[in-house]
Amino acid sequence: MAEPFDIVIFGGSGDLAFRKIVPALYRAFGEAKLPEGSRVVPCYRGALTASEYIAEADAALREHLLEGEYDQAQASEFSSYLTPCALDIKTADARWQTLADLLNTAADRVRVFYLAIPPAIFGVCCQHLSEYGLVSANSRLVVEKPLGYNAASANAINDEIARYFDETAIYRIDHYLGKETVQNLMALRFTNVIFEQLWDAKSIDHVQISISETVGLEGRAGFYNEAGALRDMVQNHLLQLLCLVAMESPHKMKASSIRAEKVKVLEALRPMVGDEVFKHTVRGQYVAGNHNGKLVPGYLEELGEPNSSTETFVALRAYVDNWRWARVPFYLRTGKRMKQRSAEIVIQFKGVSHRVYEPSAGPLLPNRLVIRLQPEETIQLIMMSKDLNTLDMQLQPASLNLNFSESYKHVKSDAYKRLILDAVAANSSLFIHRDEVANAWAWIDPIIEAWQQASQPPHLYRAGTWGPDESDELLAEDGFSWFNSG
Ligand code: BG6
Repeated sequence: MAEPFDIVIFGGSGDLAFRKIVPALYRAFGEAKLPEGSRVVPCYRGALTASEYIAEADAALREHLLEGEYDQAQASEFSSYLTPCALDIKTADARWQTLADLLNTAADRVRVFYLAIPPAIFGVCCQHLSEYGLVSANSRLVVEKPLGYNAASANAINDEIARYFDETAIYRIDHYLGKETVQNLMALRFTNVIFEQLWDAKSIDHVQISISETVGLEGRAGFYNEAGALRDMVQNHLLQLLCLVAMESPHKMKASSIRAEKVKVLEALRPMVGDEVFKHTVRGQYVAGNHNGKLVPGYLEELGEPNSSTETFVALRAYVDNWRWARVPFYLRTGKRMKQRSAEIVIQFKGVSHRVYEPSAGPLLPNRLVIRLQPEETIQLIMMSKDLNTLDMQLQPASLNLNFSESYKHVKSDAYKRLILDAVAANSSLFIHRDEVANAWAWIDPIIEAWQQASQPPHLYRAGTWGPDESDELLAEDGFSWFNSG
């Protein structure tokens, strides 16, 4: 078994810790990937005693694990790995010393500092880690979005943490990269010659990348209303997916090669300036509507404010200006309170060069490769075939289906578990380099600026739908439509 390690979670009693990090560590423990002697050290402000914290963590596990995953005996064993530590990050007092003393009882082991706290206090937290002598060659710093509000603020955050940690020790999480099907996308692209030969502007008509959610604000009104969908989802998750679809093959599956290829894609994104922003983007905001037969409130009602022009939906057309992708539109879309929860990538191929069948055989649909990341993990190749029920020639679409959710029923994939264990193992290939953050913001910033200058209200859409009509029109202008499987 691997060596024991320590993981310190700043913001240990916060939403991210209880929802994602603690359950991920519980799963790692259940799979014997938390070596004996390892310590999980949640640091939190407030007066919770260690046993009170452990009771709260247990309640969080019951609430956030999937059905049937919680096991009393396992949870109780897992809790013996928890060493809660109450401290105020900003105040360098005896409690920081207690943390230092605790960690220094095993000074040589791998230490992961997970900052599940607002970026405004990343700097002071790192400063104290350094002042208390806790940053060693074996330390890793894990941080998570929102990494800034624009390029300048992201840069400031990255500069600040870089004063204490080398870039190679910084692990920026984008949890989409921890999803198994997202990694499968790279496997699909870089191990199958049939796709490699067709993966360019000569054969591909357009690409759709869509992440639709059915949830609304989920208690994050303050953050979300400041951020909006473009910052919350496109700057990171959607652009990362775009990178994985569009990048050249790395020469090896190692962090530096993968990241370098992703940066090239981000650099090649065609900037949108001035009026182009309005030609290529659609902003939306949901109003009350029906979801699964239930009336759900509109954004403003959820927010509890009469006015806000924050977008809860965005659709846009992007171009990657390089030889491989010249003139191929990439349509990105994401929104809250949409009809279905799903994340999918659709690669639509060009049509055949010459139709040999009579019109009576029916329409010829283009081939599509549909990579579904959630809710179920599937890859579908849609092709044309003959309808075997008819004597005369009738064409119909048929699909080759790979259903990973079926074939890997026993696997409980958890992006956070995977990413935390990768950080422990110093494998940064699924983490974001600061150059990726900077380039993504550099493309996003002018869009936000143009929106702000025009101060047009977002297009309204009813909760429980696929977004505003303008999003369909964006694709219709080019003769396409959203795939919307489900
Ligand atoms: C987060 C966003 O990064 O991703 C949330 O801040 C969003 O607003 C979430 O709900 C979606 O993640 P997933 O894995 O549920 O698709």
